[in-house]
Amino acid sequence: MVELPRRVRIYEVGPRDGLQNEARPIPTATKRRFIELLLAAGLREIEATSFVSPRAIPQLGDADELLPSLPRPAGVRYPVLVPNLRGLERAAVAGATAIAVFTAASDAFTTRNIGMTVAESLAAFGPVLREARGRGWWARGYVSTAFGCPYTGRIDPAAVAGVATTLLELGVDEVCLGDTIGVGVPTQVHELTATVLAAGVPLDRLAYHFHDTRGTALANVMAGLEDGVSCFDASTGGTGGCPYAPGAAGNLATEDLVYLLDGLGIEHGVDLSALLEAARFVASALGRPLASKVGQAGGWDPATGAAMGLGA
Ligand code: COA
Ligand code: ZN
Repeated sequence: MVELPRRVRIYEVGPRDGLQNEARPIPTATKRRFIELLLAAGLREIEATSFVSPRAIPQLGDADELLPSLPRPAGVRYPVLVPNLRGLERAAVAGATAIAVFTAASDAFTTRNIGMTVAESLAAFGPVLREARGRGWWARGYVSTAFGCPYTGRIDPAAVAGVATTLLELGVDEVCLGDTIGVGVPTQVHELTATVLAAGVPLDRLAYHFHDTRGTALANVMAGLEDGVSCFDASTGGTGGCPYAPGAAGNLATEDLVYLLDGLGIEHGVDLSALLEAARFVASALGRPLASKVGQAGGWDPATGAAMGLGA
């Protein structure tokens, strides 16, 4: 048996990745309430919004209002997506202390998503990350399409490793490899982890971001755990998708991740019943039934055999 990490960080992306693709405007107060419920469930890293062009992502155009309005309990981090210095300045005014820059392993994807090749995006992040470090901020770098690109197909793990190591050289604290369109399977996770570790990415600075588009997200988390990875992204309610990634449905649902980690005896600090409240809240705000498995079935109490956390 491989030894799994004893504790993992759950990095919540629901308010950002989860909501960014929703066509119907969601009131700022609803986003804030969602984040308050996520905090109440015990989440401590919540990617709150994006300081990108509101033309590119209209749903997150209220970032300047939302971020300063959030509660700031000790030990909570609200990373925000920042594509350029303009975004960094907006984030600073709004009180950010943590950012995420985002590129991908394929030029075809970055060209559509951020209007730059991968190399151009890395060059553009240099000044952004220098500025963020100068302010003492935490920074993450995303490598999207790490398993496959909706425009060019299969991605070579070596290409992902090259982008990841460059991001670390530019000063990010953590790199996050994203299966943006949910095409990867566990053997590919093992291969990718091995490739990036061999290229010099430290295990404790590596995170995975899986989408459950084809039902492989939890299996991929398990593979990541077996590799010793201890940070996983998830979106409460299983919402999500990128407008520049056709078919990128549903992030891994945080409640499905929590159920798995609870069963494995891995600590994470999130209460499943409270989390299901947040999941129901976001589903009802979007006017949709809950997409996640655990959202539908509830948790499970092994002492009684009953489903848990399904609410009134
Ligand atoms: N915040 C607000 N507005 C911004 C901005 C920022 N950080 N960066 C650029 N803009 C505005 C510009 O002022 C310009 O506005 P205008 O058309 O009214 O003059 C417009 O956005 C285009 O800016 P430009 O510098 O010409 O860049 P671009 O059109 O090549 O867009 C990005 C580049 C990166 C700004 C844009 O593609 C973007 O924000 N992408 C984000 C995509 C995303 O978040 N995807 C999901 C996450 S994976
Ligand atoms: Zn995503």
